[in-house]
Amino acid sequence: MSEFRITGKAKLAGVIGYPVTHSLSPVLHNYWLARHGIDGAYVPLSVAPDAFVIAVKGLQAAGFRGANVTIPHKEAAFAIADEVDPMARIAGSVNTLVFREDGSIHGSSTDGFGYVANLEADGIDVSALASRGPALLLGAGGAARSIATSLLEKGFQVIFSNRTAERADGLAKELDAAWRRNFPEGDAPWLSTIAWDEWEEQLGDMALLVNTTSLGMQGGPAPDWAPNLSKASRHLVASDIVYVPQETPFLKAARELGLTTSGGLGMLLHQARPGFKAWFGADTEVDEATVAYIRAALSRR
Ligand SMILES: NC(=O)c1ccc[n+]([C@@H]2O[C@H](COP(=O)([O-])OP(=O)(O)OC[C@H]3O[C@@H](n4cnc5c(N)ncnc54)[C@H](OP(=O)(O)O)[C@@H]3O)[C@@H](O)[C@H]2O)c1
Repeated sequence: MSEFRITGKAKLAGVIGYPVTHSLSPVLHNYWLARHGIDGAYVPLSVAPDAFVIAVKGLQAAGFRGANVTIPHKEAAFAIADEVDPMARIAGSVNTLVFREDGSIHGSSTDGFGYVANLEADGIDVSALASRGPALLLGAGGAARSIATSLLEKGFQVIFSNRTAERADGLAKELDAAWRRNFPEGDAPWLSTIAWDEWEEQLGDMALLVNTTSLGMQGGPAPDWAPNLSKASRHLVASDIVYVPQETPFLKAARELGLTTSGGLGMLLHQARPGFKAWFGADTEVDEATVAYIRAALSRR
């Protein structure tokens, strides 16, 4: 790895959150900066909700090239952007801001991109998978919203199942309306919902199962959570976006049934690539060295 160096001309970016202490993004971006020998830095920025706009203006004034945005600022980031990518517009949330030289702000949502890129990196042909059957998303929170949007873009039929049924219904309706608004000439998206206590029975029809809830997360509401996958077709791809532990009980159960699995850490790493390229000007790879470095950082927490 190149020696760490920083000069008065350093390229600057950061992650805005509240709290921001748990974010792995500074570790990842500074690792890539050092590895590419880039004169730059990426810093955690703890910003209270009522200070978001002034903080973004301050970062622009200080010459930052942009920032990642995490909870609770993703809607505010959407609102502050002068131009927003179509997928972020549909998802209604932005996690990557790029400050342009003319003073304007570009916003995009890279979580869904990271999720799909990780499936592909795990050797899964995502377009072929979309033609095999629907994607069943467990959860209807912020992550489900971004992932569903990217899966619709890839041609999937998307089904939500959520503990709070109204939230799944609301999300399906909202994404449907946003998709039609943004692509009035295109095909309407295929979105529906299944009751939370019924999805295990319906698994035989699904091509992709995604856990976007915090079930199975270490320190979360149900760290031992592992659903009944006995009705799954043997072609089902089981994926989890929880990344602590790296193999959740759900993924372990799926692997033991012989299903193809994909874990959450890769999504976290891939979603960072578009921002790194925009701010620091280099393509990055999520290779074994990157994964090992981040795993080591996680294990120190
Ligand atoms: N790998 C990555 O890069 C990545 C990126 C983003 C998020 N994540 C992870 O994804 C998870 C969700 O994040 P988010 O931002 O979408 O959170 P969120 O907006 O707060 O949504 C949480 C979701 O989990 C469900 N849930 C929580 N506790 C539950 C329980 N005991 N039983 C059933 N469902 C439960 C909620 O259902 P209700 O609506 O019924 O409350 C909701 O659908 C977190 O674990 C987060 O760390 C990973």
